[in-house]
Amino acid sequence: KNVSHNVNASYDQHMSRRLPQCIIIGVRKAGTRALLEYLNIHPDIVVTSKEQHFFNTDDRYSLGLEYYRNQMPLSFSHQITIEKTPAYFTDLMSQERIYRMNSSIRLLLIIRDPVVRLVSDYTQLMYGKKVKNKHVIALEDLIIDRNGDIDLDYKPIQRSIYYHYFINWLEFFRRDQIHIVDGDKLISNPYPEINEVESFLGLGHRISKDLFYYNASKGFFCVNLDKLDNPCLGESKGRPHPEVDPDILTELYDFYRPRNKMFFELANKSFDWP
Ligand code: A3P
Repeated sequence: KNVSHNVNASYDQHMSRRLPQCIIIGVRKAGTRALLEYLNIHPDIVVTSKEQHFFNTDDRYSLGLEYYRNQMPLSFSHQITIEKTPAYFTDLMSQERIYRMNSSIRLLLIIRDPVVRLVSDYTQLMYGKKVKNKHVIALEDLIIDRNGDIDLDYKPIQRSIYYHYFINWLEFFRRDQIHIVDGDKLISNPYPEINEVESFLGLGHRISKDLFYYNASKGFFCVNLDKLDNPCLGESKGRPHPEVDPDILTELYDFYRPRNKMFFELANKSFDWP
């Protein structure tokens, strides 16, 4: 990362690996990678590209915080280190473990329309099956159970019930330690969302609006920065989604509506979902 423009006599010029002061905890398929990559543009942010799965995996957690710290990139003392592992959000141990590491840590949670997120989650899982030459099952067959109800055992259905997991985080962290990013807005117009995150992290506004440009062939915003090998996210981000039966879509939106409301109340923030 180019840090030359940070060189300032008042800064500690010693680089070391530091525990993250901010973690992107999820939600899976809501735009966690885009959020991390956009934030990585900021000169005062360094990120671990690789998902660490440290707090949600006993084997890794037992290696200790020194192990975890060693996975972090080098940083100057004025920089913020960010890690992202979307699996933390739905895990049951990560809250307490993160709290024990740093009770005043700042957390970023990105969410999006729960039905679109569900379809994205399904698309990712089916892509994994295709790669392994396994049988691909239609979404409709996975989300409806034998009785014709929404199948609560299907993980992508569960993961879009945001309040169910968010409440676990509020047991350990103050609401103002968690900033919620609107994943739908991050797609349609990333700059204002990123600007808000800079404020939340107490950083100067260094990620400028004109770095973002819409790439029609990708169908998403990309970043105009010379140092990047690829201005757009990779092929696994922005996959085409299957068409879903409109009746099933209505059923899904009806299913999530009261659950979304519970999330809005807990989060004290609402979102513009159908
Ligand atoms: P799809 O691939 O289903 O469209 P995550 O990084 O958490 O796995 O989220 C992936 C989702 O990020 C993608 O889901 C896509 O909709 C969204 N996304 C947001 N900004 C993007 C961008 N600039 N390029 C590609 N995908 C982006």
